[in-house]
Amino acid sequence: MCGIVGYIGYREAYPIVIKGLKRLEYRGYDSAGVMLYDGENLKISKTKGKVADLEERASKEISINGTIGMGHTRWATHGVPNDVNSHPHLSNSGDLAIIHNGIIENYAPLKKELIKRGYVFHSDTDTEVLVNLIEEVQIKEKLKIGKAVQLALNQVVGAYAIAVFDKKNPDEIVAARLGSPLAIGVGEGEYFIASDASPFIEYTSNAIYLEDGEMANIRLHKPMKVRKIKDDSLVDPYIQELQMNLEQIEKGGYDHFMLKEIYEQPDVIRDTYRGRLHANEGIIQMSGVEDNLEKFLNADRIIIVACGTSWHAGLVAEYIFEEFARIPVEVEYASEFRYRNPIINSRDVVIAISQSGETADTMAAIKLAKEHGAFVFGVCNVVGSSISRETNAGAYTHAGPEIGVASTKAFTTQITVLTMIALRLAKAKGTMSNTDFHRYLQELEIIPEKVKEALETNDRAKEIASVFKDAPNCLYLGRGYNFPVALEGALKLKEISYIHAEGYPAAEMKHGPIALIDEHMPVVVIAPKQGHYDKIVSNIQEIKSRSGKIIAVVTKGDTQVRELADYVIEIPETSDALSPLITTIPLQLLSYHIAVMRGCNVDQPRNLAKSVTVE
Ligand code: F6R
Repeated sequence: MCGIVGYIGYREAYPIVIKGLKRLEYRGYDSAGVMLYDGENLKISKTKGKVADLEERASKEISINGTIGMGHTRWATHGVPNDVNSHPHLSNSGDLAIIHNGIIENYAPLKKELIKRGYVFHSDTDTEVLVNLIEEVQIKEKLKIGKAVQLALNQVVGAYAIAVFDKKNPDEIVAARLGSPLAIGVGEGEYFIASDASPFIEYTSNAIYLEDGEMANIRLHKPMKVRKIKDDSLVDPYIQELQMNLEQIEKGGYDHFMLKEIYEQPDVIRDTYRGRLHANEGIIQMSGVEDNLEKFLNADRIIIVACGTSWHAGLVAEYIFEEFARIPVEVEYASEFRYRNPIINSRDVVIAISQSGETADTMAAIKLAKEHGAFVFGVCNVVGSSISRETNAGAYTHAGPEIGVASTKAFTTQITVLTMIALRLAKAKGTMSNTDFHRYLQELEIIPEKVKEALETNDRAKEIASVFKDAPNCLYLGRGYNFPVALEGALKLKEISYIHAEGYPAAEMKHGPIALIDEHMPVVVIAPKQGHYDKIVSNIQEIKSRSGKIIAVVTKGDTQVRELADYVIEIPETSDALSPLITTIPLQLLSYHIAVMRGCNVDQPRNLAKSVTVE
């Protein structure tokens, strides 16, 4: 994880780097640091804590002028978060500075060798090993910084996005990537380097996304050079026009990004199906699916790989694909799949779901599936991300930047994309009647309106939050399509409020978890009218008779559950298969309000990072 930013040009670098770090703070926020070069001095300030802490410290510690700068916001891997382990790291001579996102797996033997040769280390990080390795290569071979970086990286095993500055070659920053993302903003007489394009969108809309195994010599007054790290051969970089705008990455009047992103869902779901879903004509068209329709139709099975919330979207998709298109589906945690020698063959279609498109385990699962000849389809949000490029084909979710660490709009847009794919396959396979197909299309088209209506539960969710904000535990129960929603509801609560929560299929209660129920246990039950309503009513009875506190998400007008539940949240009616798009909304709001009331940092929960680029 970690976020990196660099600037080389004619403007003051400090404000660009600091603002950029704030935008990248979702990637890690346990410590931060900045390096500036003012034509003479290389100045570094770094601290445990957030970018705001760095700002306070830097202004006291160093003069913040200079037109070359680099900054880092950290999510610790090697060494605890403290001032010393924060980036940038300097080489022993003090000439080289580095910022690094990723892990150098063979840092221990490299460090041992460097120590033998007289190098001294101040931090516990793998990054300090890398910068000294580069320095050693540079001095030994009398090389320019670019070549030294290239040779050093060839000795390294692991994942990285790095930027290196050499005081002796002060017109240049060298950037390289393998496994961690790196974008270079190309302006007039200036360049920006960042983990994603958000730090530089107000300066340029031209960006180069380095490919894995590429490095760039980013030089003032000279054209930039992109090379392959492996053999130093030149590459012609592709300059991409960015689609992101500033408004998308700002809070827009909301207290938190998470709340903004929850409220964006009606619009982004519409963006997700725009141009793909034509309800009146009865058409669903997604180029990634159309171009590979035969592969989907001939698939023996679909294997879905993902992590976290994306894995929950995969579970919803399992129900949808099997019901609509009658294709067997297996949903796998990418981290388990990649290490358990799974049986995969060329008639399998693997769908990889990832908001960030950078999740290391999902990436490894994709590579494994491809090695076995499977066709891999990506469902990603971040355009141009590593996963979107590694997969054979795919469909973007078009949710726009998701900055709150807890995933919200990514989840509902992933489900929207997956539902459209399932519907398209159902039509092609004839596994759904025409009437049902048209009905689902019409219903999907009006889902944004229903999500909007579901957002009106905000006040009710807040009220309920105030009652349960101090509960130490919480259970979430759902059945069928809403079982994954129960898992997702529990994940949202635990990750942002630090309340222990568990999601269960409601019927599993009696096989163990029911022992937890007493008058102190809040139980959130997802009980819409469609689906296994009678069954879930019985489950609610079971909880009630053990004095559990029931918070039920019900369809508007429901009377039966209302009589049993302590609190109800009413949502608009929709078909069972599409209900996760609606039932999940009040659960997001409930978690949000509980976390706010508990004084938690909603957008940046402890120990987490948005983009999990380490395994
Ligand atoms: C939870 C959350 C994480 C991510 C998971 C996968 O709110 O955000 O569980 O869903 O880390 O990330 P992506 O989707 O980027 O692969």
